[in-house]
Amino acid sequence: MTNSFSTQRIDPYTPPAEHLRLQAENPVAQVAWGDGKIWAITKHADVRAMLSDARFSSDRSLPGHPTGRAYVPGSLRQLIEMDPPEHTTARSRIMNEFTVKKIAAMRPRITEIVDETIEAMLAGPSEVDLVDALSLPVPSMVIAELLGVPYEDHSFFQENSAVFVEIDATAEEKAVAIGNLKAYIGKLVAERVDQPGEDILSRQLAAGANPEELTAMGFLLLIAGHETTANMISLSVMTLLDKPELAQQLRDNPSLMPGAVEELLRYFTIAEIGGLRLATEDLEIDGTIIPAGDSVFGLTNTANRDPEVFEDPNRIDFTRGARNHLAFGFGPHQCLGQNLARLELEVVLAAVLRRLPTLRLAVPREQASFKEFGPNYGVYSLPVAW
Ligand code: HEM
Repeated sequence: MTNSFSTQRIDPYTPPAEHLRLQAENPVAQVAWGDGKIWAITKHADVRAMLSDARFSSDRSLPGHPTGRAYVPGSLRQLIEMDPPEHTTARSRIMNEFTVKKIAAMRPRITEIVDETIEAMLAGPSEVDLVDALSLPVPSMVIAELLGVPYEDHSFFQENSAVFVEIDATAEEKAVAIGNLKAYIGKLVAERVDQPGEDILSRQLAAGANPEELTAMGFLLLIAGHETTANMISLSVMTLLDKPELAQQLRDNPSLMPGAVEELLRYFTIAEIGGLRLATEDLEIDGTIIPAGDSVFGLTNTANRDPEVFEDPNRIDFTRGARNHLAFGFGPHQCLGQNLARLELEVVLAAVLRRLPTLRLAVPREQASFKEFGPNYGVYSLPVAW
């Protein structure tokens, strides 16, 4: 029997009711998906098992792969679409750039970016859409920094990155922005071929990346790290404004910040329908056989509220200390940029608490518009005032 599958939520803090029902009643279940069906895996242990087994393939060139994007034969595959051993080789080349130590060295620059963005916000009217004013600009500037985009090109980079996540932008406008960014990153890579510097692109070229692959990688970093981080910034700030006792905990005890970020990542699990995969052979999950050729996804949102793993899972607890959540996925494709995302969130939330002490929601929380229809959960706009 095929189950219905809705992403509708009863409130912004609770995963879709339909997902929670599946976890409670039918944790490995076939659900309606587009014109066909897909296996929804909802328990923490089962999602982990599925994501760590590369026989559940990420290769979207396989016929029937559920990523929902048309694969153009011969086109370049992104890291996120590769299986081992191709994936292992490609990932090991870039992994070095995202270690805790390398990312921690970015803290001073990220702090400057956040301060400048808040400065610009404070210089304008005292009511803004937080998404446009803070949540989207910060991650795009950080990725520009990571890629070594020169300062004078930052606004070009930021304006074009904003278009492809803009709800009102037409498909044509988005295509133009994507074309602009790919061409720009391509130009940046070509410049580094001629004149290597001390940046990530030069190091990747020196490590053997070819310019075309590296351009695709630069673009993937932007796609993967921009809107995701922006959604987490908006939802986290919304939570601190909507639940002042949580903001107070962080003001009283700033050392709670890393734990708070971890808990907010678990709680919102914005990549909620993470891990779209195709079974390449008959595979068993929790006693259910997933036949070869069937599609699956891991509902990390319900996995991260699994009462068998997280005590009182619907409570936000900054002291929980749970790092075994699946907000960044699990297994070979686990988020490459997770240390960077954590750092950005820490710096932004600390700056908001410090520099915007009177910040408040400018509309009742229910009137903010939420991204309910995937693939990532988030907020389209969050009016705030101070
Ligand atoms: C992969 C979540 C921020 C780069 C992933 C995956 C998840 C995820 C769930 C696994 C996808 C899969 O299994 O198919 C998030 C969240 C973020 C975030 C929730 C922010 C809060 C970032 C940032 C970057 C980044 C800042 C880099 C600038 C990547 C890349 C992959 C990835 C390159 C593919 C890794 C691979 O296939 O080996 N992310 N991400 N992400 N993420 Fe993130």
